[in-house]
Amino acid sequence: MITEWSFPTKILFGEGAIDQLGEKLRASGVARPLVVVDKGIVQSGLCDRLGGVLKKAGIAHAIFDGVDPNPVEENIASGVEAYRGGGCDGIVAMGGGSPMDAGKLVRLKVTHDRPLEDYDDLRDGWRHVTANVPPMIAIPTTAGTGSEVGRSGVVILRSNKRKTVIFSPHLMPNWAVIDPELTVGLPPRTTAATGIDALTHGIEAYCARGYHPMADGVALECVKLAARHLGRAVADGKDIEARRNMMASAMMGAVAFQKGLGVCHALAHPLSSEAGLHHGLANALMLPHVLSFNLDSAKGRLADIAMAMGVPATSSDLAAQAAVAVERLCSACGLPSKLGQCGVSRELVPTLAAKAIDDGCHLSNPRPVTVDDLKALYLAAF
Ligand SMILES: [Fe+2]
Repeated sequence: MITEWSFPTKILFGEGAIDQLGEKLRASGVARPLVVVDKGIVQSGLCDRLGGVLKKAGIAHAIFDGVDPNPVEENIASGVEAYRGGGCDGIVAMGGGSPMDAGKLVRLKVTHDRPLEDYDDLRDGWRHVTANVPPMIAIPTTAGTGSEVGRSGVVILRSNKRKTVIFSPHLMPNWAVIDPELTVGLPPRTTAATGIDALTHGIEAYCARGYHPMADGVALECVKLAARHLGRAVADGKDIEARRNMMASAMMGAVAFQKGLGVCHALAHPLSSEAGLHHGLANALMLPHVLSFNLDSAKGRLADIAMAMGVPATSSDLAAQAAVAVERLCSACGLPSKLGQCGVSRELVPTLAAKAIDDGCHLSNPRPVTVDDLKALYLAAF
C-alpha cells in the first residue's frame, strides 16, 4: 500500500516568539493583516499585546473579534466583510482553536465564492480549494487544539447545525508562531480542558488505523509531554517549563492526527454543537470510555499509551491501564467525569449519537462503531 505523508509546517517556537511577528509578516508579503480574535482574547489583554508588536513593527492592521466559542457560518461572513472593509492582504489569527479555525475559513472565503457547505470534508470539498488564498500566521494562546499546524477549520453550518470540518492543505498557516508566555494567564480549568484535547489527539492518532510510523512517533511524544506537564501547568500557570512542554505537546498532537483521529472526537463534536460543552472537556468525559471500548482492538497500542503516561511496564493488564491513567489525569486536573455533571440530559443521547455517526473522525477508529455503540458510549459517561 502506498500512502502520502507530509510534515511541512513552519514553526517559530519559544518564549518571546511573538515579538518576531512583524518580520514573519513582511517575509510572507503581508502589509495590512486582519487580526482574527474572539472577545476572550480582547478581554485578556493579548489582543493589545499583539497590537503593540504590530505597532512597533510599523504594520497597520484591522481587528475582527466576532468569533463565537464554537464558530458559526455567520462569523465567517462577518470576518470576510471585515477583511474587505479593512483593505487587508493577509490574516493573523490569535487565540484558541476557534479564532484560528475562523481565520482559516475567512482566508478561504475571501477568494473562494462557493457556499461553505460545498467545502465540507465529508463531501470531498477539498477539491474546490485552490492555492489562491492570502497568507496567514496563526498564534495559539492555548495548548490544546494545535490548529496552528492544522489544515482544517471547523464551523457549525446553518444548513446542518453540525460541526463541519473543512480541510485543505492550502488552509495550513504559512507560519505557526508559538509563544508559551501567551498561555501563562490561562485559568486552570481552561488549561486542563485544552490540555486533555492535546492528549486526546496524541492518543487517538497513535491508535488510529493506517500505517504512519512518523505520526506514531510524534503522537507518543505528545502523550508523554502532556502526561508529565499538564498537572503542573494546571497547578501553577506560571510554570513556564510546563507551559512550554504543553505548547509542544499540543502542536505535536495536531501534527500527528494527520494520520486520523477516532471515536472520541466523533462523540465530542456533538457534545459541543448540541450541548455547548467545551471541546476539550467533551473529550475528557468520553476518552476513558472510548479506550475501554477499543481495548481488544488496540491492545498493543494502548499498552504503549499507558507506558507513555507513566504506568510501569511491569504492570498487569497494561493496555487497560491507559483508561485508568487518563481518568486519573483528568481528575487530578479538576475536571468533572460525568456528562450529568455538565448539564447534559440523557434524552439528548439519540440526537448526539445520530450526529456522531455522521462525523468522519470515527472512520479511523481501531474498532468500527455503530449508532448503538455510540449511544452506549454516551450512556456509560453518565
Ligand atoms: Fe480535538
